[in-house]
Amino acid sequence: MGDQKKAVLITGCSSGIGRATALRLNQSGWLVYATARRAASIEDLARAGCHTIELEVTDEASRARAVAQVEAECGSVGALINNAGYSQSGTIEETPIELIRRQFETNFFGLAALTQLVLPGMRRAGRGRIVNLGSMGGTLVFPGGGYYHATKYALEAFSDALRFEVGGLGIDVILIQPGLIRTEFSETAVASVPTQQDDSPYRALMAKVKQATKEAYTQGLAAKLAGEPDDVARTIERALAAKRPKARYRVSASARVFMWQRALLGDGGWDAFLSRHYPRPGKS
Ligand SMILES: NC(=O)c1ccc[n+]([C@@H]2O[C@H](COP(=O)([O-])OP(=O)(O)OC[C@H]3O[C@@H](n4cnc5c(N)ncnc54)[C@H](OP(=O)(O)O)[C@@H]3O)[C@@H](O)[C@H]2O)c1
Repeated sequence: MGDQKKAVLITGCSSGIGRATALRLNQSGWLVYATARRAASIEDLARAGCHTIELEVTDEASRARAVAQVEAECGSVGALINNAGYSQSGTIEETPIELIRRQFETNFFGLAALTQLVLPGMRRAGRGRIVNLGSMGGTLVFPGGGYYHATKYALEAFSDALRFEVGGLGIDVILIQPGLIRTEFSETAVASVPTQQDDSPYRALMAKVKQATKEAYTQGLAAKLAGEPDDVARTIERALAAKRPKARYRVSASARVFMWQRALLGDGGWDAFLSRHYPRPGKS
């Protein structure tokens, strides 16, 4: 993006990928606006040299304030990194609709609204980059994560549409597809599972989902293929520096292996693979 110091606005910097990205980009000379919904969670990023702003991505006024501040100080947002997100785990039948709405408000609508806010400034500047944190889970589904996956599938379409619309205006759109990355993500996902009725037909499935969500990052083959937050940060840095960035970047061996496996197996083969690892309601 040229050698002038460019402003990069990052959501969800209190932990994990957002935090690692803020630190890495700050180190390599970007003007980093690290944001989080709890100001106290990014005080150390301010001490490290980042600008910090409180930003709750589901709140309209909060989004507007953050973008207005960066634009007032820098003219336009050079790059927006849409990172904030979490997994609302639970079955399709049992997850209350308000939790599903909150999931989409955070992972999709907040991100869409923030993107809409930065685009006019980027168009005026004739350049900019939008980096969306998708997931390998935007191309394949694990049981008990249907609503989370739905937000990441939505992001695939959103990124493809936006890339076509703004590419000619000097704005690049990049979708990052991490696999398993060791962050707070799994703990939040396990804690999000709604309470189940005693006679729920999905009890055994969700017990396994919780166990698998914890163990995937720490035990067995999947954990060996997992990555660290800085692996994602490094990829984002590369995508921001590239003259012509790719539309998609997979991060970690787990993303490459699972996405390859999903494409190879097809629907029936993937369901059969999952049936070997998760109890299927009505079949056990
Ligand atoms: N870790 C993985 O295996 C993995 C794999 C693929 C994709 N991803 C994606 O990577 C992104 C970052 O996740 P992570 O792994 O770094 O998890 P993480 O450590 O749990 O970080 C998630 C971040 O999002 C923030 N956030 C959640 N809701 C928010 C809201 N309404 N407004 C503002 N910030 C909010 C969290 O803030 P609080 O601390 O305030 O909650 C936190 O800073 C997510 O979009 C996730 O879907 C992760």
